[in-house]
Amino acid sequence: MSGASGTPYAASVLRALLDTGESVDLVVSRASRLTLLDETGISFRDAHWQDDLREWLARGADGKPGGFDIGAGIERVRYWAAGDLAAGPSSGSYPVKGMLIVPASTACVAGVALGLSKDLLQRAASVTLKEGRKLVVAVRETPLNGQTLRHLVTLDDAGATVVPASPAFYAGATHIQDLVDFVAGRVLDAAGVEHRLYRRWKGELGGGTHTT
Ligand SMILES: Cc1cc2nc3c(=O)[nH]c(=O)nc-3n(C[C@H](O)[C@H](O)[C@H](O)COP(=O)(O)O)c2cc1C
Repeated sequence: MSGASGTPYAASVLRALLDTGESVDLVVSRASRLTLLDETGISFRDAHWQDDLREWLARGADGKPGGFDIGAGIERVRYWAAGDLAAGPSSGSYPVKGMLIVPASTACVAGVALGLSKDLLQRAASVTLKEGRKLVVAVRETPLNGQTLRHLVTLDDAGATVVPASPAFYAGATHIQDLVDFVAGRVLDAAGVEHRLYRRWKGELGGGTHTT
């Protein structure tokens, strides 16, 4: 997670990954702690990350209890401090399938495009690309300047999949959580992870409208 707005997207992706039985290596950039604080009120700290994560994932996009059952899934999260450049994901020999940056700030996009590796998040992304593994970048900013657009093209050229955090409205959303889950679902689609986060387009106009 980098420091763009959109922490509910990350929560949705995390819950879905844990639901499917995946293990997750979690890195939260320093700036992302600020967006988490701003968007959830949770002061995320390395020292009590598991409690903070459990509290966060239990909430919906509106910040209220979302009725999500995280259960023992949280045991499959391995948390790494963003400043820990000796952490497992900083090496290509660390066994991972790929990496999802959700949400991705324009600063993070720039850092990865330029190969800066200024923290564990950026280093792990560079490693993901050099190892030819899947990198999905859910960029969240609007409008985008030319610099960021060029960085995104660089990432695409390098093999990453850029998934703008832009919800669609054809899937019958009635709550904010539905819009969040749509973006999270498209991130997981790009990563080849099965999920049931949104209703897929079936080729029928009007299929997304609700009468209740
Ligand atoms: C509340 C808040 C919201 C922000 N939202 C965005 C955003 O949507 N997109 C973005 O690119 N940067 C956003 N920023 C700025 C980034 O956090 C900042 O550029 C930071 O340096 C990113 O660092 P990181 O990529 O290492 O996480 C936001 C900052 C704050 C405090």
